[in-house]
Amino acid sequence: MTFCLPEKITPEIFLRDYWQKKPLLIRQGLPQIIGLFEPADIIELAQQEEVTARLIKQFSEDNWQLKRSPLNAKDFEKLPAQWSVLVQNLEQWSTELGKLWSAFGFIPQWQRDDIMASYAPRGGSVGKHYDEYDVFLVQGYGHRRWQLGKWCDPSTEFKPNQPIRIFDDMGDLILDEVMAPGDILYVPSRLSHYGVAEDDCLTFSFGLRCPNLADLLDHVNQAFDQPYPEIDLNEFNIPLRLSPSVQKTGKLDPAMVQTMKQQLLAKLASSTQFDRLFQQAVATAVSTRRYDLLETEEYCDLDEIHLFLQQGAVLSQDNNCKLLYTENPLLLYANGEWLDELNEIEAELLKRLADGEQLTWQNLTTLCAQSTDPANAMALLLDTLCNWIDDGWVLIQ
Ligand code: SIN
Ligand code: CO
Repeated sequence: MTFCLPEKITPEIFLRDYWQKKPLLIRQGLPQIIGLFEPADIIELAQQEEVTARLIKQFSEDNWQLKRSPLNAKDFEKLPAQWSVLVQNLEQWSTELGKLWSAFGFIPQWQRDDIMASYAPRGGSVGKHYDEYDVFLVQGYGHRRWQLGKWCDPSTEFKPNQPIRIFDDMGDLILDEVMAPGDILYVPSRLSHYGVAEDDCLTFSFGLRCPNLADLLDHVNQAFDQPYPEIDLNEFNIPLRLSPSVQKTGKLDPAMVQTMKQQLLAKLASSTQFDRLFQQAVATAVSTRRYDLLETEEYCDLDEIHLFLQQGAVLSQDNNCKLLYTENPLLLYANGEWLDELNEIEAELLKRLADGEQLTWQNLTTLCAQSTDPANAMALLLDTLCNWIDDGWVLIQ
């Protein structure tokens, strides 16, 4: 799929001039979304057991109510005139929608958070607010009027005592446009925005997020327990050398704590072993799903997969899976896990899928031809592919 950017804006220009700097309205940037969902689909999905959803009801300017999933049919009775329902992680429920991520393929896929759908009847909104993540808002059905205003930061205050993060003052408006199905609005993180449904309307938010430092620390900790084999952490196991001063025996001297912190930071800054560990930690952090993976009930049949591929089926990454790799050495990560049991052929195949390639039987044959026993390599690979398809990492079409 081609990128959704206007003709005059190359990925380089977008990343240089727009990304986290200014909004961009792209009329008919993603017409492929039209017809994928109708309002009833999203309202129905919101009531399914495993879904992460929020129902937001607005009774007056300052009277909002929020109900989080699980939601049921009763929640959708006696609604006020203005309400919205938001469903997260749509790529879990629709591979067709998940595939549309490739229209945003100029942003590294490790930044993909999820696709959220929001439905609102005329007048419905989630209020004036800002988010800490970047988003491409894609109109899927009906029309929504978007207003963009001031820049915010973590000190920007939200209205007190409200169940959702909203404020009144958007500052001077820098954009005020009605979006129709297929239109895209890129909203940089921290830019205030306000979208009000003009009619029965569905908006899809393709959200992009960077990890926070707490996540990174957590994953550094996890990587310490399972570093990849080339990492030698022995230097972290040697007791520190410290020179305490005379003091009360029961007291932990803050100066000593500071010295230890300095030694720790100096080690982290200078250790090449830590650089490797940190790369592993970042890879697991950014490939971690925010939503649980649904268990599939269908299991794929090895002979069938074999036949499909020989008859021209193609393999691609399932965008419901967070797949990424690091090089030198080539290591693959999926859904927060380092894949420590891949052989070379499997690693190469997943890498190419992660880069957005579509692979055919011919590609698999060429890959296996590198092996000393190509027939056996292919048998192993087909078996692995079946697992990947079952696990929701790979699509076959
Ligand atoms: C919405 O689509 O209603 C909300 C999306 C957002 O404000 O980020
Ligand atoms: Co928002």
